[in-house]
Amino acid sequence: PVVDAGDAYVLPGLIDSHVHFRTPGLTHKEDWEHGSRAAVAGGVTTVLDMPNTVPPTLTPEAVREKAALVAGHSLVDYQFHIGVDPDRPELIAEVESSIATSAKIFMAGHHTAPTVIRDAVQLEKAFIAAAEADVQLVLHAEDDSLFALLDGWWGDPDSYQDYEARRPRSGGIAAVAKVIELVRRHGTKAHILHLSSAEEADLVCAARAAGMPVTFEVTGHHLSFTDADTRRLGARTRLSPSIRQQADQDRLWRALRAGQPSTIGSDHAPHTIEEKTRGVQQSPPGLPGVQELAVAVWTGMRRRWPEEDPDVAITRLTRFLSSGPAELFRLPGKGRLEAGADADLVVFAPEDAWMLSAREVRSKCGWSAYEGWTMTGRVLRTIRAGRVVWDAESGKFGTFEGRWLSPRQCDGDRG
Ligand code: DOR
Ligand code: ZN
Ligand code: ZN
Repeated sequence: PVVDAGDAYVLPGLIDSHVHFRTPGLTHKEDWEHGSRAAVAGGVTTVLDMPNTVPPTLTPEAVREKAALVAGHSLVDYQFHIGVDPDRPELIAEVESSIATSAKIFMAGHHTAPTVIRDAVQLEKAFIAAAEADVQLVLHAEDDSLFALLDGWWGDPDSYQDYEARRPRSGGIAAVAKVIELVRRHGTKAHILHLSSAEEADLVCAARAAGMPVTFEVTGHHLSFTDADTRRLGARTRLSPSIRQQADQDRLWRALRAGQPSTIGSDHAPHTIEEKTRGVQQSPPGLPGVQELAVAVWTGMRRRWPEEDPDVAITRLTRFLSSGPAELFRLPGKGRLEAGADADLVVFAPEDAWMLSAREVRSKCGWSAYEGWTMTGRVLRTIRAGRVVWDAESGKFGTFEGRWLSPRQCDGDRG
């Protein structure tokens, strides 16, 4: 394809604070070579990786082992969310500050069963420990007790629509309300991941307006797809939490316009095509998205708000995709373009239109729910630590020199 630079922007390297790069144990779905190639092709130079691997990373030791596996295999810089051990939630207090940016709690998700905290007492213990140790929590906030009740008892087991109806929005709303209540009680810093419904957005925005230390993420896919797409794409857009309706998507965009989310993440969660075509009940939730994230959101911004000055719009985009995550997760040197910052840069052509096909997909899984989309905006070049790691014109990548960031170690006063 012809690269027409036109008037390109230079942006600070983008930060995707929500990826599942599947190491260790699930490398048939994704690995760091492929995942980080997808990242830089999408303008991302730093990722924060999730703990639901095999085994899950629930201890500092496990995180160190993961970091050793990643070293020499990543084009991007990285840090980790350590998983909270459901049986020992109080261990959060002992998480070494250099090991992880934050601690992840899955309140639901049968595909990641060993890491899920459903018990209210355990959950509260985790919130108390995190508040005492000043650890940032990130949460998959869904209550799936209702889902389990309905599974197998309601609807057509082979219908995708009925499957989604068995994972109702009320599960997310209940869990978000519970998180807010625990934040109110203990003052814990909680970042709610992948907000999906209008009601969840209303709840969190109200809590924020009341001054609570609760923040939230929206994902590229909840901003891009609705249930109308799931009818066409089936299990490819099967996600946890589910893709919801047009009114929900509109509400998330309204929150974006108001500057409410702290981050936009991809929740890059690849599964093989074979896994995704096992039928409604068996195919796991999740889709790849780190490569598509910035262009998909930019495409949506230009379509929704065509009257907005592009210079204002691109600043808004980099807030959610660079300075926002850098501040929330305390990544020194990241998220800004100024003297003393890391030389992580993206050259981005805002008006370049192109169609995404499977050929462009760099994730090991080899497919994208965005195939056939006409994108607005293209990443021409990505630079990490002053070196070119992706050049769209030549199609060449750099070398695997990404490093493990230890933010609070560099940040003397936090000990
Ligand atoms: O859709 C999802 N996929 N939601 C999750 O919470 C986990 C993720 C995965 O790891 O596949
Ligand atoms: Zn999740
Ligand atoms: Zn996730």
